[in-house]
Amino acid sequence: MNNFIISVDGPAGSGKERISKYIAKKYNFFHLDSGILYRRFTKIILEKKINLKKNSELAKLIKNISSLSAKNHKTLRTENISKFSSIIASKLIVRKFINEQQKIIIKKALKTYKGAVIDGRDIGSKVFKDANIKLFITVSAEIRAKRRHKQLLQLGEKSIYAQILRGIKLRDYKDKNRKESPLIMHKEAILIDNSNSFTKTIRKINAILAKV
Ligand code: C5P
Repeated sequence: MNNFIISVDGPAGSGKERISKYIAKKYNFFHLDSGILYRRFTKIILEKKINLKKNSELAKLIKNISSLSAKNHKTLRTENISKFSSIIASKLIVRKFINEQQKIIIKKALKTYKGAVIDGRDIGSKVFKDANIKLFITVSAEIRAKRRHKQLLQLGEKSIYAQILRGIKLRDYKDKNRKESPLIMHKEAILIDNSNSFTKTIRKINAILAKV
């Protein structure tokens, strides 16, 4: 097993990250959460008050960034960054830049690791079309909103379930209906329903990986 790529796509809050981390740990593979790159780039855009309507401003910003870190940080997980990242992710110039960043990160990682697990929206359908295994995770919007609501309350943050549900549905809509790399299930992808317990999901995933 060398240069083995596993793509894990799915909507916001479907548990892609936890599943990817589990697989990466099990096989000692590198894990890349591509959403972090969109979030970090969004944070930079908001801080620099870049005018999104001007592609020239975006192009100038991109030119000045040599590499984007994929390191997670809690400041990237706010509702505001979540909301803006799906708007920013619809721009072709941004997607091209983030896709290049992903390729650079994975190329470097595969010098050390035998494989990589990458999660996102368009990994199996666009960025790593040749992935050896493609997973697509589903969970209803209501269950995802319930989980997010609980998580926010546990973090001591204010949360209104109806607002969270609306936010999730809006992000789903934007991700699925954008022109550039919409969230779609690739024909080769294996559908994993993550609505029940994580243990159940892991059982399904292990059965798939055992066949490899
Ligand atoms: O996965 P996460 O919710 O952290 O991603 C943040 C945003 O980045 C998403 O709302 C989505 O619009 C965008 N994204 C994307 N393509 C990816 C990963 C994330 O468009 N591969």
